[in-house]
Amino acid sequence: MGTSAAERRDELIALYREVQHCQKCPLHATRTNVVFGSGNADADLMFVGEAPGHHEDQQGKPFVGQAGKLLDKLLAGIGLGREQVYVANVLMCRPPGNRDPQADEIEACEGFLFRKVALIQPKVVATLGNFATKLLSGKPTGITRVHGAEQEATLGGRSVLLYPLYHPAAALYTPAMLKVLEADFARLPELLGRTAEEPEPAPMRAPLAPEPAVQLGLF
Ligand code: URA
Repeated sequence: MGTSAAERRDELIALYREVQHCQKCPLHATRTNVVFGSGNADADLMFVGEAPGHHEDQQGKPFVGQAGKLLDKLLAGIGLGREQVYVANVLMCRPPGNRDPQADEIEACEGFLFRKVALIQPKVVATLGNFATKLLSGKPTGITRVHGAEQEATLGGRSVLLYPLYHPAAALYTPAMLKVLEADFARLPELLGRTAEEPEPAPMRAPLAPEPAVQLGLF
């Protein structure tokens, strides 16, 4: 795998082309478009939702309906836009009638999601709702219990901070859930900062009497 941002972006584009005619699960028969994902191919922050809905299926882009508008608003609240983050889903094709993703569909699609994470190399992966959270954490614990609690995870062969959030579509019609989602979202800048290059440790206060350098932690 290429390592520079430009090489990783090229590989992401190659993956995009590869999946355009995917027939790995039955959803290919009813989809209009494969919804690959969109945003900054070198983003520090990646969101993973559930599956395309009607509008996403029509336009071939993730989160372009009502839930997407809320996602944009939440992002604006922390000073970010779509062009700075990457947004993808567990499934790239719309389940008919927006039903829940099925196990065989998730299994068919998950390899592509992991490849996206490996190519984008985000520092923080925010999972939106139960399906993305359970898939990427590898644990069955539901979103109600784990939202807002960051956890270390290894994804795409790299260590990332996994940050489960309520799904914006669920928060649209439940004011109490929206409040929680806003509060959880507000911690994202801190989490992104936390994963930034570790700062040099603060210099130790000069000792009153000279001490061996090893005691000062210099070696
Ligand atoms: N809900 C999702 O989970 N993903 C989308 O892309 C749109 C709505």
